[in-house]
Amino acid sequence: MRTHHCGLIDESLVGQTVTLCGWVNTLRLQSHVAFVDLRDHEGLAQVVIERDNAAAFATAGEIGNEYCLRVTGTLRKRLAVNDKLKTGTVELLADTLEILNAAKDLPFALHEHPNEEMRLTYRYLDLRRPEMQAMLRKRIRLVQALRRYLDERGFQDIETPILTKATPEGARDYLVPSRVHPGQFYALPQSPQLFKQILMMAGFDRYYQIARCFRDEDLRADRQPEFTQLDLEFAFVEEHDVQDFVEELIRHVFREVQGVELDAVFPRMTWAEAMRRFGSDKPDLRIALELVDVADALKQVEFKVFAEPANDPAGRVAALRVPGAATLSRKEIDTLTEFVARYGARGLAWLKVEDLAKGRDGIHSPVVKFLDDAALATLLAATGAHSGDMVFVGAGGWKTVTDFMGALRLKIGKDRGLVEDGWKPLWVTDFPMFEYDAEAQRYVALHHPFTAPKIDDIADLRTHAATAVSRGYDMVLNGNEIGGGSIRIHRPDMQSAVFELLGIGAAEAEAKFGFLLKALKFGAPPHGGLAFGIDRIAALMAGTESIRDVIAFPKTTSAQDLMTDAPSPIAALQLQELHVQVLADAATAH
Ligand code: AMO
Ligand code: AMP
Repeated sequence: MRTHHCGLIDESLVGQTVTLCGWVNTLRLQSHVAFVDLRDHEGLAQVVIERDNAAAFATAGEIGNEYCLRVTGTLRKRLAVNDKLKTGTVELLADTLEILNAAKDLPFALHEHPNEEMRLTYRYLDLRRPEMQAMLRKRIRLVQALRRYLDERGFQDIETPILTKATPEGARDYLVPSRVHPGQFYALPQSPQLFKQILMMAGFDRYYQIARCFRDEDLRADRQPEFTQLDLEFAFVEEHDVQDFVEELIRHVFREVQGVELDAVFPRMTWAEAMRRFGSDKPDLRIALELVDVADALKQVEFKVFAEPANDPAGRVAALRVPGAATLSRKEIDTLTEFVARYGARGLAWLKVEDLAKGRDGIHSPVVKFLDDAALATLLAATGAHSGDMVFVGAGGWKTVTDFMGALRLKIGKDRGLVEDGWKPLWVTDFPMFEYDAEAQRYVALHHPFTAPKIDDIADLRTHAATAVSRGYDMVLNGNEIGGGSIRIHRPDMQSAVFELLGIGAAEAEAKFGFLLKALKFGAPPHGGLAFGIDRIAALMAGTESIRDVIAFPKTTSAQDLMTDAPSPIAALQLQELHVQVLADAATAH
């Protein structure tokens, strides 16, 4: 149909007959001549239609934006070169102009930034935009580079089932009713976790899969209900074997796809240190601000807001010094107070260090009156405050303070332009094995229930469950958790003990994970692995905030596909075949 791509024509073709196909990007109709910028996946080409060519000129009069055209003509040099265009030195003088398909008036202009609802409804138009094409191509190159690297190193690409049994990763399951087994359901995998472990038990040694995962959870910019992992598993390994390998893999793809050389060794930080210094288990190290624990300085003060958590082992009092921020206005401080309230903060104390040399007279703050001289001096010294700085202080329960002060650090870093350029990867290690879920009144696994504890002894683990540390690790890049993994439990007695600590009784464990417990009894090798979030890495590489931009057909934050209108109601007959009855209130809810 065509001889060349629009975006690839150049002066070497001048004088030749060329046929191009593409879409009308822009159209300029003048009395004697028409210009069309024709666009395909490679870029733009200028097509000229002169009035002398009566048939083509008449056709040009019929076309509009995004019409699909085929043009044959002679390539010639342009009189006025367009530097902004890759093909700007040449143009195609049309002999024949054929409309392959007309386009209706567009719901939005492609070069404007349309709202997301429109973009997702008309995704095929949105995807025609060169910036979207570039972002998706970045993802394609990332996946190609990952595959090539792993194929060359003997990793086996093995598919695992989509219709399966629940694989818990901390979200709700998507379920599929079985027609032939009335009342029974498959679950879509939240990850291939158990299958990849069983592949190690089956002797495959090194596995990978570009795997689709399904999780029914609250969605955000970095979370989709279905997303893609690079899933990896290794037999006969310890933490550093997995970490060293995948670190090199990530360095390789950043070099190849992004042209970036990442750190030769990624720094390692324990979870406890990350929470203490950055208020996050995925710290963004591009921001130089750090939290400082100041409870010791405030144990004796009369101000209960500080003293109570300062003296409570489950409390936290943390300060954040922001250089040069003493100039923040009352209104700006109020906005930050409202911001931290969303994370459960009851308030946000602040001290403007106007003149450090003047002692308390140099401090402007609503809480300074509650602090004696010694407490104030220790607090300021601990934060390293200088004149002109602002010191924020958060007090309360450990988790609440950690969360809101961590969020405040990020917000201030972004608002004040303190985010350095570049790439800051790190490993976060030594996660707590269990987290207490106050609502459910039981322990839940911080990674997943198949992660090995550092403690090897079952009796020891039972005694120290609350403080036990796991063999899990996350890779973090610029404040994003891009991958997570662990060394797994490979002994059936340890796996049963961990289920028990998680409140999963023997009968429930047998019903849900009997196949795993059984498989572990047949000489399961020590093994471990990790999964990367491909969407998140692609989004970082493409420089976009939302993973929706690197997914061809993403869902909205309410898990809808606006283009196909999924999910949608099902006909009564089909429901009957599936032995499914829809509750009356659900049927009328939409
Ligand atoms: P985890 O749950 O940490 O581990 O997932 C691994 C990585 O997948 C990405 N990710 C997501 N990306 C987009 N949308 C989501 N809803 C979403 N959820 C997770 C993140 C995350 O780091 N089976 C284990 C891996 C293992 O232990 O080997 C697992 O799934 O980048
Ligand atoms: P109050 O005595 O409640 O009026 O609070 C006095 C000051 O302490 C105000 O500036 C509040 O913002 C601040 N404050 C209240 N609760 C907290 C908290 N949990 N952490 C930090 N500061 C707080």
